[in-house]
Amino acid sequence: QKNGFPHFMLKEIHEQPDALHNTVAPRIKDGLPDFSSDGVPDDIFRGCNKIYIIACGTAMHAGMVCKTMIEPLMRIPVTVSIASEFRYEDPLVDENTLVIAISQSGETIDTLEALRLSRRCHARTLAVVNVKGSTIARECDNVIYTHAGPEIAVASTKAYTVQLAALYLIGCKLGLVNAKYTLKQARAFIVSLQKAIPAIGRILEQENTIKKVVEPLSSAQDTFFIGRGLDYTLSLEGALKLKEISYIHAEAYAAGELKHGTIALITDGVPVIAIATQKRVMAKTLSNIREVKARGAYVILLTKENNVTDQDVYDVQLPLPELDDMFMVFPAAVALQLIAYYTSVNKGVDVDKPRNLAKSVTVE
Ligand code: M6R
Repeated sequence: QKNGFPHFMLKEIHEQPDALHNTVAPRIKDGLPDFSSDGVPDDIFRGCNKIYIIACGTAMHAGMVCKTMIEPLMRIPVTVSIASEFRYEDPLVDENTLVIAISQSGETIDTLEALRLSRRCHARTLAVVNVKGSTIARECDNVIYTHAGPEIAVASTKAYTVQLAALYLIGCKLGLVNAKYTLKQARAFIVSLQKAIPAIGRILEQENTIKKVVEPLSSAQDTFFIGRGLDYTLSLEGALKLKEISYIHAEAYAAGELKHGTIALITDGVPVIAIATQKRVMAKTLSNIREVKARGAYVILLTKENNVTDQDVYDVQLPLPELDDMFMVFPAAVALQLIAYYTSVNKGVDVDKPRNLAKSVTVE
């Protein structure tokens, strides 16, 4: 039931504020992250000396975002591994390793086998899963369910943002349990996370603008998504979303890496979706965007609404609500989902069932 929406994907994009609320609210106690109702003990977070995040596709991209949050906080290595690679890599996993498996369906075979391998290596395992009672949830030592509700569209949207929210709660818990965060810092983190939920509504209000802005994309051969740091990890997800439902070649690039080859592909009118939400690297990212603009790119810039940028940097600016940098991923992800959705609609592609793809990948 699409509840009046033309596609499940659009319905699910709109369900994100509720889904996020359902994932976050029950896990906040006294302003702090709390997994006691999930039965996940604090001990699994205590004293781990490295973290592996194993997942595929969009779930893996959620893991990449999370690495940018956890690694600087914990000062321990966080490795995000594509599950189908991890399985054959002889990974450095032992009883002091926390392995986090992320999966919407809980049935992705590579993620499941990577989890089984981690358990054989005696790792502490934690699954972030949406589908209740799925195989990954059943086999993992600890489970945090995301409460996105059923996701029908092949392109993952709400499952991604709730994975991010669950991972941010895990990050905050890791910080607290290992004395990297004070109670005050952890509470401030949770407040920022909660603020991200209504911010998504502000993007949904811009839907008609986004629909218009993406018109040039539907006739493009190639598109590029660029950013640095957290924005780069978001670019990967933006590009995947566009590829899978519009069949347009989309490449995500770390903005600073463009000039090492890929910038040769930027010619007149090539769409570049530039994400610039991180203050620490803002000046550098803007200078990379200027480089593509100077070569004729059609630049759609996603940046904070109060971030004043020269008009020579973009063709269209999509203003994102102002949040702490770490939390900008939430509104930006939704903007990227709408960019992909409307490009697909403009091209007349079957949005909910793109060719060659299945919702759950149970072959290796
Ligand atoms: O069910 P999972 O989260 O394990 O699925 C992993 C990927 O197949 C999935 O995220 C896929 O990349 C998305 N449907 C793409 O939108």
